[in-house]
Order: sequence, then C-alpha cells, then structure tokens
Amino acid sequence: MKVTTVLAAAATLLSSTSSAQNVSTYNNPVISGFHPDPSCTFVPELDNTFFCTFSSFLTFPGLPIYASRDLINWKLISNALHNPDQLPALAFLPRGATSGIYAPTLRYRDGKFYILTTLANQALYGENYTRWDNFILTSGWSEPVHFDFPGIDPSPFWDDDGKTYMTGSIDGKAIWQAEIDLETGEVFGPLVDIWNGTGLPSPEAPHVYKKDGWYYLLTAEGGIRERHRSNFARSTNLFGPYEGDPANPVLSGYLSHDYFQAVGHSDISTDALGQY
Ligand SMILES: *[C@@H]1O[C@H](CO)[C@@H](O)[C@H](O)[C@H]1NC(C)=O
Ligand SMILES: *[C@@H]1O[C@H](CO)[C@@H](O)[C@H](O)[C@H]1NC(C)=O
Ligand SMILES: *[C@@H]1O[C@H](CO)[C@@H](O)[C@H](O)[C@H]1NC(C)=O
Repeated sequence: MKVTTVLAAAATLLSSTSSAQNVSTYNNPVISGFHPDPSCTFVPELDNTFFCTFSSFLTFPGLPIYASRDLINWKLISNALHNPDQLPALAFLPRGATSGIYAPTLRYRDGKFYILTTLANQALYGENYTRWDNFILTSGWSEPVHFDFPGIDPSPFWDDDGKTYMTGSIDGKAIWQAEIDLETGEVFGPLVDIWNGTGLPSPEAPHVYKKDGWYYLLTAEGGIRERHRSNFARSTNLFGPYEGDPANPVLSGYLSHDYFQAVGHSDISTDALGQY
C-alpha cells in the first residue's frame, strides 16, 4: 500500500510538470504479466523519463526495457538481450528451473545506460561458481562484458571520489562489494563483506544510494516468495559498518492481506522534482 501512495503522489506531481494528463486514479499492477525484480531509473536528460528492466530468466528476447513519463503508462521500448549471439549459453540452460537472467540493475550515467546482471546455471550445484556468469551491457545494446564475481545480483554505484563500485550477493549469505571498471569488467579486489543482512535468510538484490553524506544499502531479504522483504541499512562509509533501519522492513507483503505478496526486490529513484 505504501508503494501505491508513493507512486500516486509521484504520478500526480509528474502529471503537473511533464504531462498534461490529470491522473487521480490508476490500476495496479502498472506493468502486468511476468515482470519480477524491477530495477528502475529516472533520466532527466531523456525528456524526464523513467526506465525499468526486470529478471527475464529463461525467456528470449530478454531483459525487457520499459519507459514511462508518468509511472503509470509504460511502453516496452527495447530488449537489452536481443541477439542470441550476445549470450549463447542462455539457450543451453536447464528448462523448468530458476536459471537464466537474475535480478538486473539498470542505471544511466554520462549518456549511457548500464545493466549489470547474472546468467545463472542452477544445474551446476554447490560451490561451483561457474554457475554465476556476471556481465555488463551498455546501450544500445552491446556484447556483454563479463566480470569475475562469485555471486549474483550485481549493482553499480558511482561515488563522489570518481570511482565505480559493484555490490552483489554471495551464497545467499552476505553482501559483498569491490571497485570495478565497467568498461573492461576488471574487478579491483579484494571483495569486501559489507553486510550480512538483518538476520533473515538470503540477503540479495543490493543497491547503494548516497544522500546527505550517508550510504544507503537497500536489500531484499527473507528468502524469496511470501517471506520476501525490502530492508535498508546505512553507513557514513561505503564499506561499512552498516546499521539496519529500525523501521525495517520498508516494504513487504509478509503476514499481510495486501494484494501484492512476495515483494522483496526494490529500487528507488528521484523524479523531476527530486521526490523519491
Ligand atoms: C484533477 O482532477 C481532480 C479530480 O477530478 C480535480 O479535483 C482537480 O481539480 C483536477 N486538477 C486539474 C489541475 O485539472
Ligand atoms: C564447474 O562446472 C564447470 C562447467 O560445467 C566444469 O567444467 C568444472 O569442472 C566444474 N568445477 C568443479 C570444481 O566442479
Ligand atoms: C558476516 O558473518 C561472517 C560469519 O559469521 C563474519 O565473519 C563477518 O564478519 C560478518 N560480516 C559483517 C559485515 O558483519
């Protein structure tokens, strides 16, 4: 319900600044069908437009890109995975399993979109890290730049020091982070364990944001399905120590009768008025 209120408020504000439409009600879900794990970003220089992508698992074309100016009306504008040659291994994954493209992060920086994501092969069980193939795509839409990370759900963060960092989830146990070069895929070690979560299973899908000198780490926890929850932690140092938000979970359908259940992976962006 919180999401509905926030989106409604954002849509109302946007409708007065960037659209002639006077929106007072709208239907959820705003994007229906199979669109899990949204990652969304607002791009002022592209006509104040919001863009999202989603986990596409075994489907092809994959990584759908949706655009909207009012957060209500969304249009499929592209697929970041559009050519089988970008990722030949996608065609050879086990069917019927939760393999394939996991939890992408979509960001825009200096005229370019970036997607960081994982091609997961769950048939390679145990501690075989070749089951996680992490890579970067840039618009419009390139060959993947693969990088070494023994986990899933990578997300980029550009800090004020001019460096770029990658934050991801390891073995359903912890959130690790390192500096990365998004052009070459080089990860500058060591990977640092920055957060083990609040004690719930499977901290994953991390995103880092900076505001007023604080680094905010948003993660999904609870081990997917109905127990999924979005939790915040924050620190004045990018590499921690982080402390959990006493108001956690900030978003969840767990133990509620809310229409939306199994809500966990979240992302946050500002709009044209700087509202979150
Ligand atoms: C928008 O619609 C609402 C509800 O119909 C109405 O009260 C309001 O005056 C309208 N605002 C504008 C700017 O037209
Ligand atoms: C991991 O999986 C790859 C690909 O199937 C295989 O070549 C490699 O031998 C495996 N490594 C281990 C330690 O099982
Ligand atoms: C996470 O847990 C591991 C194992 O208990 C511990 O070694 C590590 O220091 C913890 N990391 C953080 C950031 O608290």
